Amino acid sequence: MSQPTTWTITGATLPDGTRADLHIADGLLVEAARAGATRVDADGLVALPGLVDLHTHLREPGQEAAETIATGTAAAARGGFTATFAMANTAPTTDTGARADGVRRLAARGASTEVVPIGSVTKGLAGQELSDIAGLHAAGVTVFSDDGFSVPTAGLVRAAMEQLKPFDGVLAEHCQDATLAGPSACCHEGPVSDELGLVGWPTIAESVIIARDVQIAGYLGTRLHVCHVSTAEGVEVLRWARARGVRVTAEVMPHHLLLTADELRSGDTTYKVNPPLRSAEDVEAVREALADGTIDVVATDHAPHRAVDKAKPFPEAKPGMIAIEQALAAVVETMVNPGRLSWAQVADRMSHTPARIGSLPHQGRPVAVGEPANLVLVDPTRRSVIDREQSLSKGRNNPYHGRDLADPVLATWWAGRRTWVAR
Ligand code: DOR
Ligand code: ZN
Repeated sequence: MSQPTTWTITGATLPDGTRADLHIADGLLVEAARAGATRVDADGLVALPGLVDLHTHLREPGQEAAETIATGTAAAARGGFTATFAMANTAPTTDTGARADGVRRLAARGASTEVVPIGSVTKGLAGQELSDIAGLHAAGVTVFSDDGFSVPTAGLVRAAMEQLKPFDGVLAEHCQDATLAGPSACCHEGPVSDELGLVGWPTIAESVIIARDVQIAGYLGTRLHVCHVSTAEGVEVLRWARARGVRVTAEVMPHHLLLTADELRSGDTTYKVNPPLRSAEDVEAVREALADGTIDVVATDHAPHRAVDKAKPFPEAKPGMIAIEQALAAVVETMVNPGRLSWAQVADRMSHTPARIGSLPHQGRPVAVGEPANLVLVDPTRRSVIDREQSLSKGRNNPYHGRDLADPVLATWWAGRRTWVAR
């Protein structure tokens, strides 16, 4: 793709509120304007460091009808992301070093963000035997997850963490205890599931797994990352663990910040997701936890599915929704506009901290001279009505379709290359 390689972005507001002209050359933010640089007027716009998504389902290899690395990362760039951590639940599962190398090779053919493979905790996500953790580590993997499922037993979590400990790897746990809900559980257990006659997941299915894992992590001194916290009970257990110095971090998803189980009354299976959309009280609890830092990160759980996999009765439809293009929009709506997060805190929750958790030293850097030119230009006031047909993802399972929402991402640069611009 031929495009300018030098840029001058004038009058941008940095996350700390100061204003600056930014100059991009050779993939870096540089001191002075280069002759012939393409100018961008950023008056009134905020320049954030490129966003880092710790939790993306890119579906390749194996499920290319749902998404590819090319389409998923194009959607990510549109969402302001410059790095995506590719979840291991592909076909085949990313459970060996060779398979992690394979994901990187696919990404080298045309991704619009850096793609970082996550390794599975157990072989084939089967919850029986540990994956080749040493081999994955040798291939540069630092984050391990059976996302989609909880690691089923405390013993397996302990065994995995013991293998992660020498290189300070992190176990990213999907917290949803399957023994607390029947096989047809498909939504939050509460008034809406009663009303619709659906089987629900109780909130405690999340918090009991968090409680189990924080105790194991605390006992071993190893790192735990709690994926997609959705409940007030989960937040309470996290606070308990943090107060005791457990090395635990946690993420919340845009949809758990913005949507509740009330959406299910529409009957639209787009709203089926794991963990499920919860109550208004749970939404308030995760917002508060994100504001006070108990939840460290916003990740997306971008989960594209083929239309046929969603066009089923609610209990049988696949769980998951696309999320990466509107992630910042959801954060602006729920946290920035109400004054609960500053732009500096958004940069922290969506760039600096996820990069640190995922051990990516060259991402999540400050917007400053000498740093890699990973950048997103944000218009805090721009809005639009979301149209799922406009998505760069192959997924059409967009929970914001038809909604009037913030539409803040104007342009994204990854390593000095512009990977998205709004027209
Ligand atoms: O709803 C979900 N979908 N939750 C997950 O944890 C996995 C994801 C998927 O892969 O579709
Ligand atoms: Zn998950």
